[in-house]
Amino acid sequence: MHQTIVLYQSHYGSTKRYAQWIAKALSCPACESKKFPAQDLAGYDTVVFGGGLYAGGVNGVKFIRRNWKLLSDKRVVLFTCGLADPDNLKNAANIRDSLSRALSEEILNRLRLFHLRGDMDYSRLSFTHRSMMAMLRKMLLKKEGDGSLSPEDRMLLDTYGKSLDFTDEKTIQPLVDFIQSSHP
Ligand SMILES: Cc1cc2nc3c(=O)[nH]c(=O)nc-3n(C[C@H](O)[C@H](O)[C@H](O)COP(=O)(O)O)c2cc1C
Repeated sequence: MHQTIVLYQSHYGSTKRYAQWIAKALSCPACESKKFPAQDLAGYDTVVFGGGLYAGGVNGVKFIRRNWKLLSDKRVVLFTCGLADPDNLKNAANIRDSLSRALSEEILNRLRLFHLRGDMDYSRLSFTHRSMMAMLRKMLLKKEGDGSLSPEDRMLLDTYGKSLDFTDEKTIQPLVDFIQSSHP
């Protein structure tokens, strides 16, 4: 019997929602990584970790780096949750690039990556996050002036200050299939 756990770090809830959907599909527990005692990893052979994307980085990914000794003999799946469209190869490459700065090559090569799309409600953002988004808007307005906005930049600019939601339970299926059809 394989033992799987889904761990996650989520600021506003979309990564947590995906973690709970994945846990339900796999009939396994989900837990916030900050509240999970690392020594309990010994009881699992598959660990799914999810983190939201913030300025390219994956929230909470240091859990994997710090606990690699306990994880290295397991199947480890990492999912990210962000606004950028992961079907855009450039976005997926950017995430990988940022992960390569946060994790060693050895760890990165051992992870199976999946990218899911999140949500954002400006009215719920912390002061720091709102300031970061305001800075991003300034950069995008500059790009607009230069005529160099990508379609995704355009979308971010048009939805600035509003709420947007790309979360979709169906998109967990490739991750669930991977876990169910392969061995730890
Ligand atoms: C300050 C800030 C920076 C963000 N940076 C990115 C980013 O670099 N790439 C991306 O795809 N989404 C980015 N997002 C969107 C979040 O990843 C998205 O809201 C996600 O659903 C958050 O998940 P969480 O609420 O579970 O933490 C950013 C959001 C904020 C507020």
